[in-house]
Amino acid sequence: MSGKHLIVLNVNGEEHELLVEPRWTLLDVLRHQVELTGTHVGCEHGVCGACTILLDEEPVRACLMFAVQAEGYAIRTVESLGTPAEPNDLQQEFSAQHGLQCGFCTPGFLMLAEGFLAQEPSPSREEIREAVSANLCRCTGYQSIVDAIEATARRRADRPDPEPEAVR
Ligand code: FES
Ligand code: FES
Repeated sequence: MSGKHLIVLNVNGEEHELLVEPRWTLLDVLRHQVELTGTHVGCEHGVCGACTILLDEEPVRACLMFAVQAEGYAIRTVESLGTPAEPNDLQQEFSAQHGLQCGFCTPGFLMLAEGFLAQEPSPSREEIREAVSANLCRCTGYQSIVDAIEATARRRADRPDPEPEAVR
């Protein structure tokens, strides 16, 4: 199919006017048109979760959507969380609890966890385990990822007046 469409995507609080082919996935458009390469490309068919982003705060697979379907949603990528100099609390805990090794899966897990904690601020360990089972990690054995999410939930619960950790 040929022909491009002009769309506007709201990514990390900024509007982007983009000329896209209808067949282009949201994942490819985020990486190649918006030039945010933190969202990783893994299986490209919805299995691994490396491409997980938030759409109106819900974790979704960016490889399973066309970019033209994402108009009108608030899209958040891993770049919305923090910076290498100033990581957010979730990123700090992934580092402190050794929640990553090669790091390929990490952006997807961070966004999965960010969406999960927004919906479930005080999860049990079992609920965290179930949530992270959506994504694949071949390095960590998952324990440290569960530890990191649990520690983040604890930190956020302890905070008297929680401030949003991310750019919206
Ligand atoms: S790259 Fe999207 S789920 Fe694997
Ligand atoms: S840290 Fe290597 S795949 Fe998860």
